[in-house]
This record gives sequence, structure tokens and C-alpha cells, in this order.
Amino acid sequence: MNEIGRPNNLDAFWMPYSANRAFKASPRMLARAEGMLYYTPDGREVIDGTSGLWCCNAGHGRREITEAIQRQAAVMDFAPTFQMGHPIAFEAAARLAEITPAGLDRVFFTNSGSESADTALKIALAYQRARGQAQRVRLIGRERGYHGVGFGGMSVGGIGGNRKQFGTLLPHVDHLPHTHAPEHNAFSRGQPAWGAHLADALEGLVALHGDTIAAVMVEPVAGSTGVLVPPVGYLKRLRELCDKHGILLIYDEVITGFGRLGTNFGAERLGVVPDIMTMAKGLTNAAVPMGAVAVHESIYHAVVDGAPAGIELFHGYTYSGHPLAAAAAIASIELHRSEDLPGRAAAMEAYFTDAAHSMKGLANVIDVRNIGLVAGIELQPRAGKPTERAVGVFQRCFDAGVLIRTTGDIIALSPPLIAERRHVDRIFETLGAAIRAEAA
Ligand SMILES: Cc1ncc(COP(=O)(O)O)c(C=O)c1O
Repeated sequence: MNEIGRPNNLDAFWMPYSANRAFKASPRMLARAEGMLYYTPDGREVIDGTSGLWCCNAGHGRREITEAIQRQAAVMDFAPTFQMGHPIAFEAAARLAEITPAGLDRVFFTNSGSESADTALKIALAYQRARGQAQRVRLIGRERGYHGVGFGGMSVGGIGGNRKQFGTLLPHVDHLPHTHAPEHNAFSRGQPAWGAHLADALEGLVALHGDTIAAVMVEPVAGSTGVLVPPVGYLKRLRELCDKHGILLIYDEVITGFGRLGTNFGAERLGVVPDIMTMAKGLTNAAVPMGAVAVHESIYHAVVDGAPAGIELFHGYTYSGHPLAAAAAIASIELHRSEDLPGRAAAMEAYFTDAAHSMKGLANVIDVRNIGLVAGIELQPRAGKPTERAVGVFQRCFDAGVLIRTTGDIIALSPPLIAERRHVDRIFETLGAAIRAEAA
């Protein structure tokens, strides 16, 4: 480290989802965080417009979470959850089940969103087999979906760039169309009115694949691809078609969970409950890595009660229910409730919506989409140079003290749910200035 806390050697760390060469030539470092703010190694404030990576919903450096982790680390660092138990893992699951939608009250712990996606898909397959439908081996995702980087989530995911380096992926996978149709739904506030019928594509997949489909997995609001909000009625249609055809509906709530949409989970805000739900990120406020999968109790009973004596599901991670993560989850859920983080997000939504849509009319802004405390602002790509304009905006915002996120030429904003109006103002003033400057 040099005198202001910058590492001297950047070579060894192969950075994830990063332009390593560009970054290492011109690094952007964060060294400290508190509340709505990050601080660079030389002490400059950066407003967190992205909750880290959609995960620090309660803001940074929350004392209640830090202390819970410290206390647990001093009591017991680790204990296995394979054929053994420790109380705090059971308590974390019980606390989580209190805020998940009714019925989705059996919890499998993982360490990330990617592991949650793969776990959910495996449970769906095991369930279909347990109920005598072993031919149901096919998994349906959606174009532009993101379910992490494991082979299951990557296969079901629908972002071409995340798949093209990695060969053939899972064999029995198909995809629904995405719901983005700018000619019908550009600049929608909240859920677009047009597009419920896009769910009917599942009928086409059933016609093609017969009774071999085990599950459909979608993000209730697609996040990583650049904030695609489901059209009114779309998820209800999907739910009805899944029920009609004996297919499980899985929501990937890794982003939409824990208050982001103004309710505990996206399922409540959008009024349609899945059979299985994946989570991560906000579960521990990102203080310790942890993910979870909540399944309907009927699925648990089918897989567990129907199995011969012994292990019922041959799946799990060394760190499933890790004591430090469990402590962080309990403390985070407590904050989520005591500070009514979903309520805070809901109360800020109208102001945030207006601020986001004030970007309409700026040069190169071709769409603004939003729901809860999530917004996507899509820019017209520079001719022949996709992503360059958004990367320029990103750098300008960082230099001006605001962290945003970009995916392609789309800017995604998802501030901590404790954001106040002055933070929202700063984020969008800075973003607007950066978009203007990048157009010049
Ligand atoms: C919807 C969704 N699923 C899964 C993941 C993967 O989570 P992780 O990076 O923790 O593996 C993400 C990450 O952004 C996500 O947004």
C-alpha cells in the first residue's frame, strides 16, 4: 500500500466483470463507506447511486450488522450444516421465512445469487422427479435474463455476452421473449401498459416441448440487463400458464428482494407469487456473502417426505448457513423491519420517478424506465462504438462524486433505500450534467 492506502501492485487480482486493462491503467478505488457515501482512498466523497451492486439496501457500515458479525465471530467462527446444526442458521431461516410471501417458508441457504439460481433450478428438477414427472427436465428462462454465472443460471440466463465464451451450456433450455418494446413502452412510469401477451409465448414452448418443462425462471423486474419492468398483467399470465401446464414458476429476486420495489419482495409489489424464490444481496446487506432460496412448503414436502430414509436432496455448500452470514442476515432483516426499509422506498418512489424522468429530453436519452427505487436510463449508442457513451457518463459521474452503474448503453440506478431527497437530487443533477457533457 502507498501512503494513501492504494495498493502498489494491481496485477494479481483478475477483476470480475471488468475491463481489467483499462481499469489498471486508470484505477477507480473505494476505501471506506458509511450511510449513503463511499470515500476514495484520498478521502473524496462518492454518493452511492447503486447500493454497491444492488445490495447495500440499508446503506453502508450499519453498526447493528457489524456488531452482530463481530459477536458471532467471537462465539463460533464456523460449524458444518451437513448432518450438524447451529442455532443461528435455523434462526436466520425462520426470520427470513417471516418476511417471504405466505407459503414460501422453507429456506435453503447459499452464498450468492448465482448459487441461489442453480439451487432453485436443481430443486425444481428434484421436485418434478419426486412427484413422478421425471420427464420434466427442461428449464425455461427469458431473453435478457440474468441469473448469475453458474452453468444453470448462465444457461437459463438470456444475455448473449455472458454465454458466448463458454461453449454449449445446459442442453435442455429454452427462452421466452423479453418484454422490452420501445415502440410501445418507452418512457413508461412503473409497469408498462403494453405487453402482457408476451407471456403467451410459453404456450408455444409447451407446444414444442410437451410435458418436458420443469420450471420457468424470470426476474420479476430484469435488473442487470438494464431495468426491464414487467408489463401490467404479464406475470399473472405467466403464473396462469405455469399452473395450467404443471410448470414451476421461479422468481429470481436477487435484486427485487428486500424492499427494492417498496415491498418486502417483488412478488408482493407485482401481485403474483411464485413457487420458488431466489435471494442474495440485500439478505445480509452484503456485509457477508449469503444467498437463499425460499420454496413453497409443498415442494419441500414432496422432495423431503417422499424420499427414502437418509439424505433427501444431494445438494449444499460448505458455507450454507455460515454463522457469520446468518448473524448478518438476522441483523439485516431486523433493520429491514425496524426501519421499514420497504416503506421508505415506497415513500421516495414518486420523487425518484420524477427525478429519473427529468432525464427525458436530454441529448441521446432514448428511454427511462423505473419502478420502486430502480431506474434505467437508456442512451443512444455512439455509431459503431457501443457502450462508449455510457462508460464516459460513468467516469464523469464518478469524477463528480456519484457512483452509477452501466450495462451496455443503459445506466442503472438503485440507491440505498435510506436515500433522502437531497441524495436523489445530487445523483440526477450529476447524471444529467454528465449526459450533457458526453453529448457535446
Ligand atoms: C437477478 C440476479 N440473479 C443472480 C445474480 C447473481 O448474483 P451473484 O453475483 O451474487 O452470484 C444477480 C447479480 O446481479 C442478479 O441480479
